[in-house]
Amino acid sequence: MANPFKPSAGSSPPELIGRAGSLRRIQEAVTDGPGAPGRICLFTGKRGVGKTVMLNEYEDAFLAAGWLAVGVTATSTLVPDLRRRVAALLRQQQPPARRRLTGLSLPGGVGADWENVDQPSADLRTLVTELLDALGPDRGLLVTIDEIHGGQRDQMREIASMSQHLVREDRQFALAMAGLPSSVSNLLSDHVLTFLRRADRHDLRSLAVDDVEDALRSTVEQHGRSIDAEASLAAAEATEGYPFMVQLVGHQMWRAADAEVIDLAAVSRGVAVAKRRLRELVHETALNDLSDVDREFLLAMSVDDGPSSTAEIARRMGRSSQYVNTYRGRLMAAGVIEAPARGKVDLSIPYLRETLRDLS
Ligand SMILES: Nc1ncnc2c1ncn2[C@@H]1O[C@H](COP(=O)(O)OP(=O)(O)O)[C@@H](O)[C@H]1O
Ligand SMILES: [Mg+2]
Repeated sequence: MANPFKPSAGSSPPELIGRAGSLRRIQEAVTDGPGAPGRICLFTGKRGVGKTVMLNEYEDAFLAAGWLAVGVTATSTLVPDLRRRVAALLRQQQPPARRRLTGLSLPGGVGADWENVDQPSADLRTLVTELLDALGPDRGLLVTIDEIHGGQRDQMREIASMSQHLVREDRQFALAMAGLPSSVSNLLSDHVLTFLRRADRHDLRSLAVDDVEDALRSTVEQHGRSIDAEASLAAAEATEGYPFMVQLVGHQMWRAADAEVIDLAAVSRGVAVAKRRLRELVHETALNDLSDVDREFLLAMSVDDGPSSTAEIARRMGRSSQYVNTYRGRLMAAGVIEAPARGKVDLSIPYLRETLRDLS
C-alpha cells in the first residue's frame, strides 16, 4: 500500500484541508471572466503553510478551463524567464506557415526571414499580447510567481504595469503570486506597485485540529487502512494545525504501523520521527538563512514557554530596543516569528522552541 501523504515542499496533499473558501474564490475568478477581482491574486502566509500548493490549485483551475500557464519564482531573472516561457508558448501556437514574414521573400521561400519571437526587442507585454491574440477570446494566459519578496522591484513593476494594462483591456489574463506576509507588505508599499495592492488576498492560516483529524482519518481509510480514534486525535494534535507537519505526521505514522490498523503506538513512533524531519527540513533551513544576531534573538525568545516581550528580549540581549526592533523586523519578514500583540513576539513554526533550546 503506497503511502498517500506528501511531506515535501510544493507537493499537493492527498486532501487539501481548510481551504474551501479560497477554492471557491479561485473558481469564481475562472468563471466570472475579465474584470473578476480574483484574476489578480496573492497568497500570503508563513513557510510551510501551503502557499505553493495554492498556486498549484489556482493553476489547475485555469488549466481545466483550457488556459495556458507559466510559473516562475521571483529570482533576479524573473522577467527574462517569463519572456522565454511566453515566447515558447507563442511558437507552439503559431504553426510555421502562419508566422509573420519580416524579411525579403525569394521564390521558393529561399532567404525568407521569419520573425523570431525570441528577439530581445520584443518585450514581455508585446509577447503576452500576441499570445492572447493567438489564443482567441475563450482561452487565456495565467502567470504565477512564487516566493515574491522586497527585491526585484524593477522587474515586479514591469509585471504590475503589464498586468494593469491587460486588465484594463479586458484581456483573458490572470496573475497569481505567493510570498511571506512581511516581504509582501514591503513590496506593496512601493507606490508604483499600488495596482498589486488591489489583488484578491488569501492570508493562509494554520488549520483547525478537528479538520486535520477528519482529513487524516479519511485519507487513511481511502487508502485501505484504518486508524483508532485515540490515535487520530493524538496525531492531529501533534501537528498543531501546521500544514507541513500534517503531511510529516501522516507519512510517518503510516510507515510506523505494521498492521492494517494505525494505533496509538504507531502514532507515537511516527510523531517522534516527524519532529526530527521537521527539524531537518524546516527549522534548520530557516535558521541557516539567518544571521548570528537573528539567531541570538530567537535563542533569547526560547527561554519563554509562550510569547515573549520585545522589551525583555532587548534586556536579555543587552541591546537597545531600537537595535532589537531591526532584528524583530527581519525575523518577521523571514516568517520565523509573528506578533500576536503589541510589544509581543512568538515563534511561528511548531516545535522551533524545542530545537532552539537544544541548540543553547
Ligand atoms: N491545506 C493543506 N492541507 C494539507 N496539507 C497541506 C495543505 N497545504 C499545504 N500542505 C502540505 O504542506 C507542505 C508545505 O506546503 P507548501 O505549499 O510547500 O508551503 P509554502 O509554499 O507555504 O512553504 C506540503 O507537504 C503540502 O503537501
Ligand atoms: Mg512555497
